[in-house]
Amino acid sequence: MKTIIANWKMELGVRESVALARGVLRGLRGMQDVPNILVAPTFPALFEVSKVLGRSRVQLAAQTVHTEEQGAYTGSVSAKVLKEVGVQAVILGHSETRAMGETDEDVHQKVDLALRHGLHVIVAVGESMATREAGETEGFIHDQIKTIFTGIHPTKRHTIYVAYEPLWAIGSGKVPSIQDVSSVHTAIKQQLDELDILDVSVLYGGSVIPENAYEFLNHSSVDGVLVGGASVRIKSLMELIHLASELS
Ligand code: PGA
Repeated sequence: MKTIIANWKMELGVRESVALARGVLRGLRGMQDVPNILVAPTFPALFEVSKVLGRSRVQLAAQTVHTEEQGAYTGSVSAKVLKEVGVQAVILGHSETRAMGETDEDVHQKVDLALRHGLHVIVAVGESMATREAGETEGFIHDQIKTIFTGIHPTKRHTIYVAYEPLWAIGSGKVPSIQDVSSVHTAIKQQLDELDILDVSVLYGGSVIPENAYEFLNHSSVDGVLVGGASVRIKSLMELIHLASELS
């Protein structure tokens, strides 16, 4: 089954997030082969969206979490509170949170903490254009995966998603070739296998739109897509969901 993760970033308010979540549930009615779908609204919308999703097949994800369990961390949200409001998964290591100072070591700590609190994790990795042009993409991602996942021991209850998101592809309209995506995905899977982290879903993210999604979703090395811009409008989001459903 293919996965669609909708990262709504800071694009939608509470009412808009609720309306979009309702729209997705409506769109799924009568659909056979519903793909694995996760939506990630902004923090203040999580609780309301969680009530809308209820026990539906759509899962709720947060966009980040703090490294510590609890304490004097103004402006932060803990894994425990995310669980309390019905969150099932969390995006970690997104380039936009990394740009605010999140390191691979932080992501490692967050993965460990999130798993201990029973959250699934969606870990984003990816190289800059300079790294790509220097021919160092695979080495760079190898180092990211090593720092983040060494010493992590998920159980069967946890789902681990790794989203390969080249920094230069996010929000830019540019995408790598499917050959490049496929070779990075294969390397990620092999490395995680060696770290004894099995059954990982490896997704592609960065400028995915209905017009280019087929190529990614149709490839055996791509377990799904993480979508930003095209996931905040019901029409394009449902087109992506339908595509994933046909290819599941
Ligand atoms: P984009 O964002 O689809 O708008 O490029 C992807 C992401 O940030 O995960």
